[in-house]
Amino acid sequence: MVSGASERDHWDRHFAAGNGFRRVDAHEARLLAGAVPPRAGARALDVGCGLGTYAAVLAGLGYRTLAVDWSEAAVAATRDRYADLEPRLSARRLDFADAAEVTARLPRAGFDLVTMRLALAFLPDKTAVADRVRGLLAPGGHWLVTTCLTDRLPAERHRIGLSPDDVATMTDGWPHGHWYDLELTGMLCVALRQPAAPSRENGRGKAAGRGRADRARRRPALGTARAAVESCRRGTARPAPGAAVRRGAPQRPGGESERV
Ligand SMILES: C[S@@+](CC[C@H](N)C(=O)[O-])C[C@H]1O[C@@H](n2cnc3c(N)ncnc32)[C@H](O)[C@@H]1O
Repeated sequence: MVSGASERDHWDRHFAAGNGFRRVDAHEARLLAGAVPPRAGARALDVGCGLGTYAAVLAGLGYRTLAVDWSEAAVAATRDRYADLEPRLSARRLDFADAAEVTARLPRAGFDLVTMRLALAFLPDKTAVADRVRGLLAPGGHWLVTTCLTDRLPAERHRIGLSPDDVATMTDGWPHGHWYDLELTGMLCVALRQPAAPSRENGRGKAAGRGRADRARRRPALGTARAAVESCRRGTARPAPGAAVRRGAPQRPGGESERV
């Protein structure tokens, strides 16, 4: 994978040229609404927002949504395309791989939902990302990751997907979770839920060490999210009931390609 400034330049050029990614079709949006229905006043953070399509869906569901991306061109495009959704949707430049920047610029326990659609694969340290997300989520909040899987991609496109080990790293330590499979697009969506009350695993230092032991004891409770990991390993992932993909019209016209 290209890294650092050249990776960011790649994304800037991509968005400045008016390119996008896989559309969020009506079916994906409906599954999202069912997986993480917002309560009144709920706040969402969409990391790696690209052109802002997914963030706009979240805002449409009722989340007060902050869309972040490290590409200036992406943030500008999101603001431009969805100006009518302000203040429910706002966009800001932020490098989510930079721990200090995330700590300084985002509120701790400030979000009920953190989403990463086709973005986690591009963040280098998945363990650090998961810890960062835990710090940002309010008790009971969700981390929802939509991703391609390397098992379903040709070797030359593995950089855009998560490997079974990445999925295991991502789901490790989350006591609750469920998943669905957007089969025709080859994407998996995993929703992981933070414990409802603050627990030691959100702490740092000694508390985090104790959290690791707690996590190991709690692993069986992961249930369906772990089943997703296992089925990815075996290459037998199947859609959740009702998850057959129907291709729908894009949420907004223009500028989005079918493939990452
Ligand atoms: C494949 S695109 C997905 C865009 C959008 N989520 C979608 O589904 O259309 C990946 C996005 O992640 C962003 N990204 C990559 N690394 C990032 C980082 N370190 N911090 C913030 N955004 C990042 C890229 O700029 C790009 O917009």
